[in-house]
Amino acid sequence: MQNILVLNGPNLNLLGTRQPEVYGRTTLQMIEELCVSHGKSNGQTVTHFQSNHEGALIDAIHAARDAQDGIVLNAGAYTHTSVALMDAISSAAVPVVEVHLSNIHAREPFRHKSYIAPVAIGQICGFGATSYVLALDALAAHLRKEGAG
Ligand code: DQA
Repeated sequence: MQNILVLNGPNLNLLGTRQPEVYGRTTLQMIEELCVSHGKSNGQTVTHFQSNHEGALIDAIHAARDAQDGIVLNAGAYTHTSVALMDAISSAAVPVVEVHLSNIHAREPFRHKSYIAPVAIGQICGFGATSYVLALDALAAHLRKEGAG
């Protein structure tokens, strides 16, 4: 069994009503439920956490160090700004898959830069809620290869 944390950053609590033309109408709760059920079919125990605060996200990454085998991270806008989150991921030594609902590379230039990507094992973006499902599958395969589950 793999323990996976699905970690969501700022403004993602508003999914469903927030810019539906960009992010769709799926709520964060629906995404979290999807992750729990899809994770089960992969032999993964999924827990989830969302915060609008950078420090709380960093604390969650630190806590994952001893408790989790992997993290699916949508850092929202902190993706494009946060050296602190990048350092937290480097320090935690837990594999992270970066996800985004939207295709950040097809949007404004400031969204093309990710501080998460260099310290993640990979990035999945542009598939809406399915980005999370693909990230869980990617972590499952990665951890099996590493012999962690
Ligand atoms: C996002 C993309 C970010 O650029 C944006 O700031 C978000 C959501 C996504 O899931 O597409 O808050 O991470």
